[in-house]
Amino acid sequence: MCGIIGYTPAQTESQPNGNGNILDVLLDGLSDLEYRGYDSAGVAIANSSVTVHKRNGELSELEATVSEESVGGYAGIGHTRWSTHGPPSDENAHPHTDCNGSVAVVHNGIIENYRELREELTAAGHEFDSQTDTEVIPHLIETSLEQGANVETAFRRAIDRLEGSFAVAAVFSGSEAVYATRNQSPLVLGIGEDGYHLASDVPAFLDHTDQVVYLQDEQFAKLCSSGVEITDKGRTLVDMPVKTVEWDPEEAGKSGYDHYMLKEINEQPRAIRNCIRGRVDEMTGSISIKELDDLDRPERIHLVACGTSYHASLYAARLFRDGDIPATAFYASEYDASAVPINEETLVIGVTQSGETADTVGALRDANSKGAETLAVTNVVGGSASRKTDHVMYIRSGPEISVAATKTFASQQVALAMLSTTLTGECSHEFVEGLRALPDQIQSILDSSRVREVVGTYVNSDAYFFIGRGYGAPVALEGALKMKEITYKHAEGFPAGELKHGPLALVTDRTPVVAIVSGKSNTEKMLGNVKEVEAREAPVITVTDSPDTVENYADHLLQIPETAWQFTPILANVQLQLLAYRTANQLGRSIDKPRNLAKSVTVE
Ligand code: F6R
Repeated sequence: MCGIIGYTPAQTESQPNGNGNILDVLLDGLSDLEYRGYDSAGVAIANSSVTVHKRNGELSELEATVSEESVGGYAGIGHTRWSTHGPPSDENAHPHTDCNGSVAVVHNGIIENYRELREELTAAGHEFDSQTDTEVIPHLIETSLEQGANVETAFRRAIDRLEGSFAVAAVFSGSEAVYATRNQSPLVLGIGEDGYHLASDVPAFLDHTDQVVYLQDEQFAKLCSSGVEITDKGRTLVDMPVKTVEWDPEEAGKSGYDHYMLKEINEQPRAIRNCIRGRVDEMTGSISIKELDDLDRPERIHLVACGTSYHASLYAARLFRDGDIPATAFYASEYDASAVPINEETLVIGVTQSGETADTVGALRDANSKGAETLAVTNVVGGSASRKTDHVMYIRSGPEISVAATKTFASQQVALAMLSTTLTGECSHEFVEGLRALPDQIQSILDSSRVREVVGTYVNSDAYFFIGRGYGAPVALEGALKMKEITYKHAEGFPAGELKHGPLALVTDRTPVVAIVSGKSNTEKMLGNVKEVEAREAPVITVTDSPDTVENYADHLLQIPETAWQFTPILANVQLQLLAYRTANQLGRSIDKPRNLAKSVTVE
């Protein structure tokens, strides 16, 4: 997720004009935003002109380019970039400028209509230096400035043209203010004695002030040496409350959550909104994935992946098969392209959040060499997987810091579900409505989950078993993986029908069984499996959208809302994530960095 920062020094005795050395404040702030993950960084400082420094790679690369110069100025902005449009490079790093270099802009989020805007601006003679969606903003501003608008009007007019999610900040040559606004992307202002700050997250300026104002959607902020002005869309002044942040810097990176894992579980509604954005046609209610326009319905599909991504692949393989495309999910490490039917009509999909997993990248390479068409479904722009495949679909989760994958699993499933509709040609009204409702439904689970009541009772169990059928089976596997990796407890997931073929021997009164029971499919059979484990005195925790049906069979019930059948597993998984997290927390485990595990596994 990109990080934004802005700063204007206050008028003080030592700097009566508010003209101070802004660079140090910006660079310090950017280093405080590093935890969010980034691939390039940059700053812009305004005085009579605008000076921009930006570099691909670590912040130290940027620092090396600016350390010789002490840039004084009235206003500055900075950015750490997590690529969404265009790979990491010096050119794609923010800030971006107009043709004259007199306005510089940083942006967090996605501008959905940037293609149309870019075409329009290019036709009008503007020249673009980057592949980003962001660069349309300074050129839009430039257009209004040329028409005689002042900087504030030009900024507002440009923002008016944007569709999508964004937090934007800009500085202008000859202007001593930072202008900023937001729509569905966070932006917070800091009111300090040394000056006025803005950032996408509090840690960026917590060393300077704990007095903050949370900007709301469609509000505009103007920061200058004499203070901060907040206005609404109609330019009416808005009086926003100033709040005191009580986090220490360590907590602040996690936005107050105890662990990144919990923060990322809670980020799922936003991650899914990002994944969907611009991919649902509001007019027709159909799904369209522009970057995959040239991908035809294949004869068959292979999905290759590891761990959690493999579980997302199992889910997707089922969706493709239900849409009549033969599809199989393979552990990437077990994929043998010479032993499976494969030709140019085969689509091999590598599902990998990091884009760097050696087994998955290797399987894609093999598939390529056998002539298959390849697609990476990934979170990291410019990662190895995206460079080695014919097509790429980004899941747009933002960086995931905790080793245990959570929000990326949800986004992978959503991305693959959308992909399945475009390849199979089957997209029902119920599917689109379910997709749109998903972020709010996840939020409702996060707000009301009763997992805490369950955890205390079973925290010292011998083992945990997870069962599900059909679309519930991959979730059962994922629930067990999450439980084992962060609690270090024995946990196993099974397709429920497999229980009686062996695993039932392990079931006792000290092994809680978590059953995913949807009222929409396989209900009777699942209830039969639940009875089997109850007969062995195992406590049963059900995750269900159908409480009336299961209430007589379960010791505990974790409810999820009803939705289109494709999305029930995504909702059920949120309860399982919370169950694993709360259990690990009670056991005092190292949740974000479990023993022996790494976020990105780059060896085969
Ligand atoms: C588990 C987990 C791992 C990864 C696996 C693949 O929580 O995160 O099982 O899913 O290592 O990683 P990616 O998706 O980066 O290929």
